Amino acid sequence: MNDIVEIQPDIYWIGALHPDLRIFDDLFPTKNGTTYNSYLVRGKEVKRLTDPAMVDYIIVNHTEPDHSGALALLLEHCPKAVVVCTQSAANFLKNLIHAPVTTHVVKDGEVLDLGGRQLRFFIAPFLHWPDTMFTLLEEDRVLFTCDAFGAHYCGTGLFNDEMPDVTADMEFYFDCLVRPFKDKVLSAIDKIRGEQIDMICPSHGPLLRGNPLRAVALYEQWSRPARDGKNIVLLYLSPHGNTAKMSEAVARGASLPGIEVIRRHINDLTSGEIRSLMEEADGLIFGIPTINRDIPKPVWDVLAYLSTIHLKTAIAGLFGSYGWSGEACKMAEDRLKGLRFTFPAPFVRAAFAPRAEVLAQCEDLGKAVAEAVLHNKP
Ligand code: FEO
Repeated sequence: MNDIVEIQPDIYWIGALHPDLRIFDDLFPTKNGTTYNSYLVRGKEVKRLTDPAMVDYIIVNHTEPDHSGALALLLEHCPKAVVVCTQSAANFLKNLIHAPVTTHVVKDGEVLDLGGRQLRFFIAPFLHWPDTMFTLLEEDRVLFTCDAFGAHYCGTGLFNDEMPDVTADMEFYFDCLVRPFKDKVLSAIDKIRGEQIDMICPSHGPLLRGNPLRAVALYEQWSRPARDGKNIVLLYLSPHGNTAKMSEAVARGASLPGIEVIRRHINDLTSGEIRSLMEEADGLIFGIPTINRDIPKPVWDVLAYLSTIHLKTAIAGLFGSYGWSGEACKMAEDRLKGLRFTFPAPFVRAAFAPRAEVLAQCEDLGKAVAEAVLHNKP
């Protein structure tokens, strides 16, 4: 494929393909590689593609280095160019590019006339950095969204209607980057609702020419709360059945009127299911056995997910069985306190099999968490 493709009259893809990339940002697996999409829009007054000295504006929808890494060099070739961006982006550029940058900070809804073509800007913060915005090329109905609606996918063509369905790649990308900011996703979608959009051009993966609004609908679906009412999610691991027995008592105690208790063995859930449940929870309770003086790895993984999602709650409870040392509950408490959780009741531990009095403590623990959830104001 060429490194320049005219995607609509006088609108060019000028990106780069990276099919061999296997880990993005040292963090996210990219089994299908990725693309770095940039675009050139020519106003009616400019007829060549294009003398850099003639470039008036560089629109920076987002400053993460996969999109702004070449900006300093580009500005050397475009001495007239003004960088158009959000206030956060302008602030970030000062530390990303150690050279003077002429910026124009846009307001939400501001319009920029390119001479026969107009750009309109929608401030859309936290998709997925504080600096992000969308840019709509009004006459052509093309929306440039940077990371939003993108996917790490490098195909043989540029457009989604030229390649297999990449919904799974889009969802994985959403999970990795945007998921902690679901409320921001919904706010951004509200801003573009009702706009005429024929194509969405994200900064990674396919350009969405075939049914572009399907991607918007998917983002909305992935971001909307799935449950009504209050619920407590109880996740546990139980190598010998003891923590499971405690979990039943905790769930009994937590089952107050107005509370749905969702009790699940961690190994019965995918990581996506665990994250969805925790995001929707009004209270979280973890049943954690101590194994080799530590929290078992599947539970550490769950505790790590907590910082990758947008939590509704900061109310938690802990319990677990142990054999001879019993460190796990304290370690988890420290982790959760670091994430600003509070504990309506102290954690409950059982040495090996829980006795009746320990099971009673478990019921009290569940009840205390449920009462805190019921009294918690949203
Ligand atoms: Fe947030 Fe593709 O960079």
